[in-house]
Amino acid sequence: MSKQYSHIPVLADEGVEYLQPQLGQVFVDCTAGLGGHACLIAPAIGPTGTIVLNDMDAGNLARAEESARIAMSPDDPKSANVVAIQGNFAQLPQELVKRGIQADMVLADLGFASTQVDDPERGLSFRHSGPLDMRLDQSSPIDAKELVNTLPEKEIGDLIKQFGEEKHGRRIARKIVEARALAPIETTDQLADLIRSAVPYPKGPRSPIHPATRTFQALRIVVNDELGSLGLLLRSIGFGAKKVQSGDTGWLSPGARIAIIAFHSLEDRPVKQSFARLGDEGLVELITRKPVGASEQEIGMNPRSRSAKMRVCRVLDSTIG
Ligand SMILES: C[S@@+](CC[C@H](N)C(=O)[O-])C[C@H]1O[C@@H](n2cnc3c(N)ncnc32)[C@H](O)[C@@H]1O
Repeated sequence: MSKQYSHIPVLADEGVEYLQPQLGQVFVDCTAGLGGHACLIAPAIGPTGTIVLNDMDAGNLARAEESARIAMSPDDPKSANVVAIQGNFAQLPQELVKRGIQADMVLADLGFASTQVDDPERGLSFRHSGPLDMRLDQSSPIDAKELVNTLPEKEIGDLIKQFGEEKHGRRIARKIVEARALAPIETTDQLADLIRSAVPYPKGPRSPIHPATRTFQALRIVVNDELGSLGLLLRSIGFGAKKVQSGDTGWLSPGARIAIIAFHSLEDRPVKQSFARLGDEGLVELITRKPVGASEQEIGMNPRSRSAKMRVCRVLDSTIG
């Protein structure tokens, strides 16, 4: 199997079907990850197309770029029109405007990649023992260890409740504060053990999720400001669509298709609301009225795809009906 196809992205067929790539188009991947989606889009846009890859994780971005170049131009990868931009997708629209690039397709496949969650050093998973880090961008200043060891109890409880939708947030926060008074909490398994001792979740094979799932989700969201970044991207979609409508040049082309794949309701809700608002304002057409989910077959192969929800809209201009 060639290198670029070693990773099967979530909603792979559906992503291509809804983005409808055409020869010569510009594909902007806000969350390049391992380049899975980009490699599927590449043959359809051909050598005259352009792929812009963005990721806040430098390692993933480099892998994605290598794969996308091979997928676009197997005989001469160096010549492929692939632009790699490292950073938060919240800043990507400004970067594109600076470079004079207009997107025909935009994809944001939110969250983390398998390389990140499977790497114990990233501290994203309670299933591996590792430092309590959780940063997707290794250069960002605040990690999960700092949050759990320094935030006041009330703030920890609030964030676990709000971003983990964890009803036992207060109890977990109390345990954290009691434990850190004795010694700093340094590792994922230390934290997972504390959470397990704090909450009355049923034990055994029938318990629905690991008791630490929601707390780890909450910390990851806060460490990476995931919802703040998503909010800024959604706002930029609105600004871009307004530019199109007024005939100005922005970062989106007339008719641009935008697909966002969310993995939990805190991500999906703002996408749904924002697309609906833009639809009401006549700036976009909703291509998906209901979110597109993974098939049973995909879920069987990749259990994480079970929670994927993709919403797609298309930017309208006065000439597009
Ligand atoms: C689910 S993976 C994407 C997988 C990709 N679609 C593929 O097919 O290989 C999500 C990626 O988005 C990146 N990411 C998450 N939030 C980001 C943000 N706000 N800005 C830039 N990259 C982000 C992560 O580092 C990760 O590599």
